[in-house]
Amino acid sequence: MITQNTFLVFGATGQTGKHFVSLALKDGHHVRVLARNPAKLDSSIPHLEIHQGSITDSPDLDRLVDGADFVVSLLGDAQLQKTRKINTAFVRDLVPAMRRYAVKRFLYQAGGLSASPNRRLSPALWAIRNTIARGYSGQHEDNEAVMRYLADEAMDIEWMVHRAGIGSDGPSKGELERSSRRVSIATFRDCAAHNYRLLSDPTAIHTCDLSAYRRRPRSR
Ligand SMILES: NC(=O)c1ccc[n+]([C@@H]2O[C@H](COP(=O)([O-])OP(=O)(O)OC[C@H]3O[C@@H](n4cnc5c(N)ncnc54)[C@H](OP(=O)(O)O)[C@@H]3O)[C@@H](O)[C@H]2O)c1
Repeated sequence: MITQNTFLVFGATGQTGKHFVSLALKDGHHVRVLARNPAKLDSSIPHLEIHQGSITDSPDLDRLVDGADFVVSLLGDAQLQKTRKINTAFVRDLVPAMRRYAVKRFLYQAGGLSASPNRRLSPALWAIRNTIARGYSGQHEDNEAVMRYLADEAMDIEWMVHRAGIGSDGPSKGELERSSRRVSIATFRDCAAHNYRLLSDPTAIHTCDLSAYRRRPRSR
């Protein structure tokens, strides 16, 4: 029997979040979420604990973080992030709350078009970011500020950032693995599964890697 852990999930009603929550519940874990609109979730599901609120309205972080084993951010609001770094402001409050309750491990999902701290995007990714993905610039800038904060001020926390490349909400296309260079256009389901695995991978701590589908060995 596996140990039952408590996952505190932000962004549970989102496209990655809904798959992540299902995976953790299926494995028998307890999942606590903060949701702006709890009606998007099925409150009758056992082991799903729903708190109503917004990250921009100073939620009661002590109540949320107390007892959590893992904290997961799958947050995004591309419209608001055009003008405000809401995720950075929130993570700056969240990490001290994690310290208060000795919660060590934190996973943050950013985008493949968000650069790691002190690194440049490849020319190809930079070109995509500044053309077809231009509408998400604010979101990438917010994600980059979160990564810089974690790298500069939160190395005592076991954080890991997944710089995901996502294209659709279709079925699984395979298993993703961490990569510093390769990025696949994955499904939300596969990104959620990758996030779930990353949380129990000590080699992922303090990394901001991309993810790519495992290459199948060539048949001779
Ligand atoms: N979508 C993509 O193609 C893509 C690709 C690569 C990387 N990413 C990255 O992955 C992360 C998550 O993306 P996603 O597409 O899975 O997210 P999403 O579907 O846009 O969902 C975002 C989640 O954040 C929640 N949220 C937004 N503002 C909030 C607030 N003020 N308070 C509480 N919750 C709030 C939303 O709640 P509501 O249900 O209330 O709106 C929703 O649950 C982002 O950092 C994004 O940059 C996304």
